[in-house]
Amino acid sequence: MSYVFAERVSYMESSAIREILKVTEQPEVISFAGGLPAPELFPLAEIRESYGQVLGAGDPSVLQYSTTEGFLPLRVNIAANMKKKGIEVGPGNILLTNGSQQGLDLLTKLFINPGDFIIVEDPTYLGALQTFRSYQARFVTVPTDSEGIDLEALKFAIKQYHPKMIYLTPTFKNPTGVTFSTRRRQEIASLLSQYNIPLIEDDAYGELHYSGSSLPPIKSFDQQERGIYLGTFSKTVAPGLRLGWVVASEEMVAKLVLAKQGTDLHTGTILQRATHYYLENFDVQKHLDALRSEYKSRRDLMLAEMRTNFPSQIHWTEPEGGMFVWVTLPDPLDSVNLLRQAVEAKVAYVPGVPFYANGGGNNTLRLNFSNSSPAQIKEGIERLGRIFTIQ
Ligand SMILES: Cc1ncc(COP(=O)(O)O)c(C=O)c1O
Repeated sequence: MSYVFAERVSYMESSAIREILKVTEQPEVISFAGGLPAPELFPLAEIRESYGQVLGAGDPSVLQYSTTEGFLPLRVNIAANMKKKGIEVGPGNILLTNGSQQGLDLLTKLFINPGDFIIVEDPTYLGALQTFRSYQARFVTVPTDSEGIDLEALKFAIKQYHPKMIYLTPTFKNPTGVTFSTRRRQEIASLLSQYNIPLIEDDAYGELHYSGSSLPPIKSFDQQERGIYLGTFSKTVAPGLRLGWVVASEEMVAKLVLAKQGTDLHTGTILQRATHYYLENFDVQKHLDALRSEYKSRRDLMLAEMRTNFPSQIHWTEPEGGMFVWVTLPDPLDSVNLLRQAVEAKVAYVPGVPFYANGGGNNTLRLNFSNSSPAQIKEGIERLGRIFTIQ
């Protein structure tokens, strides 16, 4: 029997690339494809103790339904951290979500009618495109220069297409690893103060900086509460928790609460309580420093191996943080075709095509360095180097 699905379901296609990448689940394949943190660095004992303490205190409300906004003390903790980044907010400006992916979904649910335009960077985060497509959005892509998104092109796109949302990942972006300069962040905030369009600033990787400190978010320059900031514990604590947050005006949070009620009532009570316990009782700074130090050395190793093993016609980004290196092959080479050869050689990457909202990028690909051991990075880049050299 075949069901008659809603029209939007036809926008939710699984990609051919995902099918090829299924083989990367085999243990002998070295995969640079996923965007996964290093599991050996998860604070397993601390999270176990946090759950134990919260459950062991004898308070049954940790298993009860709770408010849609989320556990107040956790929102207070997050607001204090936002202030350290220059975003002056209180707990009333924060909604807890099941990962920042849910934040993206709820915002799209609130703003996008079928056929509406969203401005995105080219390339941009694939999971955001997937969500936007499921609400039948159309895309306007804006190029970036060395400081970030091109301002003139952004202004032109706003005037020409009257977008309903702008989605940016200004810090250690997935997929390229590239970061906007502080000046460009200020310019974007100032430009957007002239228009009534919400800017969604997705900051999944901001804490993972390997040199200097993190740059101020665009939202920290936003005087008019137009900016909406997405944060997550996925990259700093563990993605399996599924805990993120949205920072927005109180008026916007009230609308998001309505949207979230229809989706899942609220984020898990015990998860919020245990995460709050973890943040308040363990040395989170020390954990972050350990993550930064390990990821930095994996990034350095990957870049050094690429310099040794990749032919000189191949170019790549040198990210100052995050989890990804973005590779550009000489033009006729197609990273989707080459993926089959790579998988036969038991090494995988993600081709760049699905990160481009309106097509293109056939000669690009993304490599993740956080989820592979130094030995795997060395061996995997050597294997890729052999494939790229014989083309
Ligand atoms: C840019 C970006 N935004 C959002 C997400 C979703 O993260 P989560 O839902 O785990 O918070 C990811 C995950 O990889 C990401 O790379």
